[in-house]
Amino acid sequence: MHLVLAARRADRMNELAESLETKHGTKCHIVAIDLSTSDAGLKLVDEIDKLGVDIELLINNAGVGLIGEVSTTEPVDIQRMLNLNVNTLTDLTYRVLPGMLERGHGAIINVSSVAAFQPVAFMGSYAASKSYVLHFSEALWAETRSRGVTVLALCPGVTETEFFEVAGAPGWLKKHSSQTPAKVVRKALSALEKRRQFVVTSWKDYIMTILVRLATRRTAVNESKRYFRAGTNENTNLPASSAASDDQNKS
Ligand SMILES: NC(=O)c1ccc[n+]([C@@H]2O[C@H](COP(=O)([O-])OP(=O)(O)OC[C@H]3O[C@@H](n4cnc5c(N)ncnc54)[C@H](OP(=O)(O)O)[C@@H]3O)[C@@H](O)[C@H]2O)c1
Repeated sequence: MHLVLAARRADRMNELAESLETKHGTKCHIVAIDLSTSDAGLKLVDEIDKLGVDIELLINNAGVGLIGEVSTTEPVDIQRMLNLNVNTLTDLTYRVLPGMLERGHGAIINVSSVAAFQPVAFMGSYAASKSYVLHFSEALWAETRSRGVTVLALCPGVTETEFFEVAGAPGWLKKHSSQTPAKVVRKALSALEKRRQFVVTSWKDYIMTILVRLATRRTAVNESKRYFRAGTNENTNLPASSAASDDQNKS
């Protein structure tokens, strides 16, 4: 099996490539690239074309979150996040899918989130970006499933990665129940084999996605405020004022 890894940190990818090659004989090609730039999709596909291989499985996994109040969030950071989570994911999908359809086989896993099922206060644009990924992927699943191709929206809940540290909530992970990346991968591959359109990777999170649909939209979004509220979560970068204003809103 050949694998192309794409992210910004070449050292991390080199370590991973070495370990995959030693343990499994997987040949890895590394592309150090910032996928939040507007021509990233084109550059990456060009690079893969040079290898002369067909893409059998595209995994759009690279993504970041931003947790914080609107007034303390830099618009440029939001722009970069949306470029990565939405634009490049869409661009790569549109560049790779036609070849798969022509060959009559292939698969795409787009990494969404359990946050895709509802608006989430203090991470509104991230949650909305993941709703986009979920809806976009499901639509493509319906469009292409009879043509030998499958598109899966993978919706993990809290997972033990660097996500929350990068998103501006270091320490948050330790205080919440979480799952391992290995479990998420197992669930994803099993769902892909069953050609499912989406998968939520734990029962607890799956039930939550159903409850959110049963609740009013107002209740769902108000409940979401509890997750990243300052005061209850001192390990976020939210200013203390957001807890106070929350209490004022309640009264
Ligand atoms: N962890 C969770 O609780 C959770 C829950 C639901 C969904 N997700 C989703 O899962 C996916 C993977 O995130 P993770 O949890 O594994 O977080 P992570 O540990 O922070 O990993 C993020 C990955 O994306 C790459 N990346 C980030 N910015 C990039 C950029 N501009 N260009 C290229 N690559 C970039 C990173 O590599 P470099 O930094 O080297 O570029 C890294 O490999 C994301 O789409 C995230 O939204 C995570």
